[in-house]
Amino acid sequence: MPYRSDKETRAITKIILEAGAKARKETETTPEPDLTKPMDWPVTCTVGPGLEGAIACETKVGYVNGAKGWLIYRGYDIFELCAYSTFEEVSYLLLNGNLPTHSQLEDYKNQLLKYRNMNKMMSILMGYPIENMNSMAAIRLGSNLMRYELLGADAEHIRDMETLGKVISSDEDSIAMETVPKGEKNAIYHFDKREMDRSEIKKMDTKLESVMGRESCYHLISGVATIAAAVARLKKRRLPLEPDPTLSHAGNFLYMMTGEKPTPLEERVMDIALILHADHGMNASTFAAMVVASTLADIYFSVGSGIAALSGPLHGGANEHVLYMLRDIGGSKNVKKWVNKAIKEKKRVMGFGHRVYKAYDPRARVLGPIAEYLAQRTRHVNDENWKMFQTAQSLEKEILDAFGRDKRIFPNVDFYSGIVYSCMGIPADMFTPIFAVSRVSGWTARVMEYLENNRIFRPRAMYVGAFDRKYVQEEDREEVK
Ligand code: CMC
Repeated sequence: MPYRSDKETRAITKIILEAGAKARKETETTPEPDLTKPMDWPVTCTVGPGLEGAIACETKVGYVNGAKGWLIYRGYDIFELCAYSTFEEVSYLLLNGNLPTHSQLEDYKNQLLKYRNMNKMMSILMGYPIENMNSMAAIRLGSNLMRYELLGADAEHIRDMETLGKVISSDEDSIAMETVPKGEKNAIYHFDKREMDRSEIKKMDTKLESVMGRESCYHLISGVATIAAAVARLKKRRLPLEPDPTLSHAGNFLYMMTGEKPTPLEERVMDIALILHADHGMNASTFAAMVVASTLADIYFSVGSGIAALSGPLHGGANEHVLYMLRDIGGSKNVKKWVNKAIKEKKRVMGFGHRVYKAYDPRARVLGPIAEYLAQRTRHVNDENWKMFQTAQSLEKEILDAFGRDKRIFPNVDFYSGIVYSCMGIPADMFTPIFAVSRVSGWTARVMEYLENNRIFRPRAMYVGAFDRKYVQEEDREEVK
């Protein structure tokens, strides 16, 4: 057993296995032949707006069968991975292609452990007014600082500079170099120029080689969790915590975020959430990360763009909005009226629909019953989450009745994840960051795979604008309405 086991974690495993059995009963299990064969470039495919249907590359990392509601990582079914595996195993699997042997897993865990502690970088991060920042913006900043920590500065620029002390690196305008603690309410920051001696340059050159390597992927997988946990604490005006070397990745993340050692149940549920969000085909943030990497910008920039893309309410940002929506609905009895109004106003219902899934999202199949288990369990102490779960269930029924059969709109991963996190006492503005903590494994795996046969991404736009317009001097222009 690769994780701490007790009665409650066994109950969770049972829930997952039941969800998997239900999925297998309700969905067919043969792959789609047209979407699972080697490509003979150039390919002909029908492309819709938003690149719907476009095939950009071959991959062995993962497979999403939208018609049947399947999710596969490197050949393994998501239900099996959730039931038996851990985020450490799964992130290793995504990046390296196979589940690790015992010694490979120990080495990998040690690598993650090594990178989990980022004191130097943390002191720079704390120089920013994190408490006033959007959590995803703060995490994106943190990923940039990790790059800075590894390189010391932008080594490409430094190589060409005559006078090292005068170096202004490309991201120096966004990085506070020194923080002077003055005990003020908000974080304070100012910019200092950094002096650098020549002996540092040699070290940087070797480090630079690794910014596109597997080592940097491990650095990011471990480090983004540390940053997200620190952001959660700084937003509550608490100091970041040092990792606990005895805890797993999921356990550490929870501990560094809340300051409390997680119970086996909490650790296990977070582990499952991280496994479920780790990879998902060519979604917007993965594609964003791959586009950036295809220019041979380094993996830190790629991951930074993945974080940015994930923050949007149509992508990873939806989980947070689901919670606000459920609170806004205010109870099961209001659902019908709310849905009728939403349909009339052509409102997007957060946590429903998917570009690829036209069947029940397998991730929601796992998270739905886990949300029920957790909400039910704490019902006698605080029934708010239970009421929210009941509202969610009524909403699911109403939406399926209203849209499901015709439009194939089902709950997606974001619909129940918020309730799960809420039951664990995690604030809503950390929901999307948790998604990022996990998805960094998928981003890095897909980027590394794509770079083996890299070609810069460059689709076309169809020009439908005007021709032959004559330039008009400013004083003669009239406002075009
Ligand atoms: N609520 C109401 N109607 C919807 C929804 C929804 N959530 N999703 C799709 N539709 C309707 C849409 O109005 C359209 O109807 P019509 O054909 O009459 O114009 C039809 O379904 C097709 O929608 P689409 O916008 O073409 O679908 P898409 O593939 O471009 O968008 C989506 C996919 C996820 C952006 C969309 O379903 C959506 O906005 N969902 C709500 C946000 C959300 O939950 N996002 C999380 C996605 S899963 C996690 C992740 O990948 O980050």
